[in-house]
Amino acid sequence: MIFVENLEKYNLHYPANVAIICCRYEERTNLMAAAWHTQLSHDPPLYGISVSPKRFTHDLVLVSKEFTVNFLRFDQSRLAAFVGKTSGRDIDKINVFEIDLFDGKNVKAPVLKSAYAAYECKLIDFRKTGDHTFFVGKIVGVHYDPNAFSPFLNIAPTLYLGSDMYVTSDFSTKRLHDERQVKEYLSKWVQGD
Ligand SMILES: Cc1cc2nc3c(=O)[nH]c(=O)nc-3n(C[C@H](O)[C@H](O)[C@H](O)COP(=O)(O)O)c2cc1C
Repeated sequence: MIFVENLEKYNLHYPANVAIICCRYEERTNLMAAAWHTQLSHDPPLYGISVSPKRFTHDLVLVSKEFTVNFLRFDQSRLAAFVGKTSGRDIDKINVFEIDLFDGKNVKAPVLKSAYAAYECKLIDFRKTGDHTFFVGKIVGVHYDPNAFSPFLNIAPTLYLGSDMYVTSDFSTKRLHDERQVKEYLSKWVQGD
């Protein structure tokens, strides 16, 4: 492996599942693509998104204190590119890209109709993390297409590789928890200690 102190872009951990962040404040609705997001806690259920202050979404989330996190099938990747390359400051993305939304049940932020799953989140905390703001949302509702899960995800999701490249999963799967082998390793480790 090569060692470097700095990279121009820290994309080596990609692919990342692409989320579409939807938000609404008064009459204004907007959405953007996000690759930087993560589950934070089971109980309470918390979900975090990292958004640059340059984004219009940033300001709408700050004032509305709500957002939804929506996940896309691979054949919808174009939507991520559309809403991830244009700003709600310049255009009304919902009209321009003819995006179908429906109202959230427990938040005013809308949900993407074509998403295979979506979390409704209420903002409970945020902090500046370098050049982004990390928003912590409490999940107050979940939408999902039951056909997309059996019980694990069974449809091709949109994943981001960086540099405007998208990829999906080939669904090679393995269940890896061999209790017997783990015990063997542990017993060797304890004996050798
Ligand atoms: C695939 C993809 C992932 C992105 N991930 C993020 C992200 O995690 N955080 C962020 O602040 N911007 C991210 N962006 C950039 C925003 O989506 C983009 O700047 C968008 O135009 C912001 O729209 P807005 O100004 O309407 O909020 C991403 C863009 C793409 C295409």
